[in-house]
Amino acid sequence: MESRKSTASFLWGAATSAFQIEGAPSADGKGPSIWDQFCAMPGKTAEGLAGLEACDHYHRYREDVEIMRRLDLPAYRFSISWPRVIPQGRGAENPSGWDFYDRLTDCLCAAGIEPVATLFHWDLPAALQTELGGSAHPDLPLIFADYAEAAFRRLGDRVRYWLTINEPWCIVELGHVRGCHAPGVKDRAVGYVVAHNLIRAHGHAVARYRVVRRRPGAISLALNGPYSFPASESSLDRIAAQRAMEACLGWFGDPCFFGDYPAVMRERLGGELPSFSQQDASLLTGSMDFIALNYYTANLVRHAPGGDRLQLLELELPQAKRTSTGWSICPDGLYQMLSWLSRRYGGLPIWVTENGAAFDDCPDESGQVNDADRVAYLREHIAAVDRAIAAGINVQGYFVWSLLDNLEWAEGFSKRFGLVRCDFRSQRRTIKRSGHWYAELIAKRCRTPLRQEQAGLHPEGNR
Ligand code: FCB
Repeated sequence: MESRKSTASFLWGAATSAFQIEGAPSADGKGPSIWDQFCAMPGKTAEGLAGLEACDHYHRYREDVEIMRRLDLPAYRFSISWPRVIPQGRGAENPSGWDFYDRLTDCLCAAGIEPVATLFHWDLPAALQTELGGSAHPDLPLIFADYAEAAFRRLGDRVRYWLTINEPWCIVELGHVRGCHAPGVKDRAVGYVVAHNLIRAHGHAVARYRVVRRRPGAISLALNGPYSFPASESSLDRIAAQRAMEACLGWFGDPCFFGDYPAVMRERLGGELPSFSQQDASLLTGSMDFIALNYYTANLVRHAPGGDRLQLLELELPQAKRTSTGWSICPDGLYQMLSWLSRRYGGLPIWVTENGAAFDDCPDESGQVNDADRVAYLREHIAAVDRAIAAGINVQGYFVWSLLDNLEWAEGFSKRFGLVRCDFRSQRRTIKRSGHWYAELIAKRCRTPLRQEQAGLHPEGNR
């Protein structure tokens, strides 16, 4: 069945990722990922091995799609576990792994829900890490492109919208510089190489997509970062805040639009930044059909002479309310971020591919979850999107993170982001008040689209 609302001017949905919900870490031929291994190391994550069953979505996907159908969600963003479909990361494919994503996609289509697939949401096949050194290896881009091509061929008759890589900034900074995420490397020089390979991997995957795609659609890469406000009115702080935006969003965004890193990174980091070949630069330029943004929070930035070469000092927003991850709540940051992206990248359609908040919500005596904080967070952030659209910014999608409470990486199960509660012992799902609220908002908005005149501007309509 065609998605009911896929031709609407705006795509509403919810998002998850494979490692965070699927569980079944070694079922039906799946290979281990670097996250399976990281969780198994003592002290790395809050729950250790116990985390690996997550929400058992691998076995309960029908129930989860049924929940989405009841909420009448127009779209669902999920990720494909690379080691489930290619257990060693390259070479032999695992037909049972692909069968799972076939069943999931069919089930979504049958429910009229538009599937949006992310190819790499951090769960790199462990074999690539052990044998090659993972994303730092120069062959990674082509290995990734082979996997991506297999996915386009296998699911591309039903999946129109793709994201190559989720938040490369996190893979680099958390996984390879700070070492608090898998694979746990702590080496800034390696971080620049990994960033470079991830960007090239995106470019190669998009090139394959454009050759093998089976129906009109669109592809992008999910950028993330806090919005950086200047810490004072001084021009040095204002320039520093702009530099922070370029060194975070622009690090991965600029190569996809302009074929190179932001000039300010080149000036300040010089030889530490690898160079793009002519071929890479031309593969990359124009490799985003739309801009995908994951937004959660904002900060203040001060010019900090004497610090590292970027001379940035990041500070918390004073007096902002925080979520249970400690992230400041700043809906205006989303508005500012959308404006920044639109100005820098020339008005391409933007999808907010993740936005949401963790709170310590628990069920009341009757079992209901009255997560008023999350409702307020979502309401204020959706109002920021409305404001951006009213200002002429071409926002065309919004996805709540997350459909379900899930395994929040190194934080384990302690941070609940879901519209739907998951009891991790019984695996019982309960739609929270925020889930009902979001369903009502979508129902209302789909009857009266945000901006009628946007119809037809959906990314695939732009080319
Ligand atoms: C994002 C990740 C996502 C989830 C949210 C809370 O950075 O993409 O998997 O962990 O944060």
